[in-house]
Amino acid sequence: MGQLWVRLAHSRPHYVGARSIILFFGRLRFALSMNLLVVGASGLVGWNFLRVARDAGHQVVGTYASHPIPGLRNLNIANAEAARDLLETFKPDAVVCCAGWSWVDGCQRDPKRAFLENAKLPSQLGRLALQYNARFLYFSTSYVFDGKDGPYDENATTNPISIYGESKLEGERLVLEATEGLALIARTMGVYGEEPQQKNFVYQVVRNLRGGKLMNIPSDQRGNASYVADLALMCISLLMRGTSGIWNVAGPEPELYRKEFALRVSHEYKLDSNLFRFITTSELGQPAPRPLQGGLKIDRAMNATGFKPSPWTSFLIPEAI
Ligand SMILES: NC(=O)c1ccc[n+]([C@@H]2O[C@H](COP(=O)([O-])OP(=O)(O)OC[C@H]3O[C@@H](n4cnc5c(N)ncnc54)[C@H](OP(=O)(O)O)[C@@H]3O)[C@@H](O)[C@H]2O)c1
Repeated sequence: MGQLWVRLAHSRPHYVGARSIILFFGRLRFALSMNLLVVGASGLVGWNFLRVARDAGHQVVGTYASHPIPGLRNLNIANAEAARDLLETFKPDAVVCCAGWSWVDGCQRDPKRAFLENAKLPSQLGRLALQYNARFLYFSTSYVFDGKDGPYDENATTNPISIYGESKLEGERLVLEATEGLALIARTMGVYGEEPQQKNFVYQVVRNLRGGKLMNIPSDQRGNASYVADLALMCISLLMRGTSGIWNVAGPEPELYRKEFALRVSHEYKLDSNLFRFITTSELGQPAPRPLQGGLKIDRAMNATGFKPSPWTSFLIPEAI
């Protein structure tokens, strides 16, 4: 594929694929079309990012690690050579890193794996992206906060209370270091939407209630519920604007109770909400502590992108689940 030299807003000489269209106004850099490499496209965020980006006219290659999906390439980012080969071949304008270990209680039990998969490996990929002059997007979490006094803006003081939160905060730090501050870090929370592995909260509610099973819901946790397609659209918009650093990108209600979210889902799918058992987080007795008021203020991203995410977006849950 032919290439074209351009100069980044950060004064870094930069290759972009010939099909990419990038406009410059002074220090501002606007991309109309990008080559995107979505790593972890078999997961919730990555799979939707890939679809939304393609629909918006971008050229996208996606990867999976252990859950094959037709059309995706296999990549484990622990294999640095394989990652390098993919960047060499595809020459993306941006690498979207959705790879990570997001099972909060699993991370609590296995900190070594959590720090490897949420911090060290993504930062190695970030360094590689920098070498190939590609932008880098890393997804972080509201769990970098203790949740005592949220919702939080981007400048709030972090204080993770779980291994997952610690490993993601370390991921932010290492990724920014590896990319010389150029990475875009998108903090989000409570992501839901259509998903190949069908494991997010909405699927859990529908599966439990359709099966007539009681379901424990924490009554004291609140924060954003984030529709994954909106998350992808906002991140694409931020990438196209050449933004870097930490941004909150989430649903519009930073103080939405989990209980209310669960009730919206049961109402939408006409399920029996009497099967919910609302109990406190401490009564749930999960291995990892949870931030109670860990919502994210998204004003900065809304102002920058002009995009207002929707409060609750239903989507088709396959009958098969
Ligand atoms: N979901 C949320 O509510 C939420 C909230 C805040 C932040 N985040 C962050 O957003 C990111 C994506 O989350 P998600 O919910 O989409 O997670 P997910 O559904 O578990 O997907 C994770 C993806 O990463 C891939 N992956 C895992 N280890 C990998 C490796 N070593 N090399 C390459 N790919 C690897 C997985 O591939 P296979 O499945 O094929 O193995 C999968 O495609 C994570 O960093 C997470 O911390 C998510």
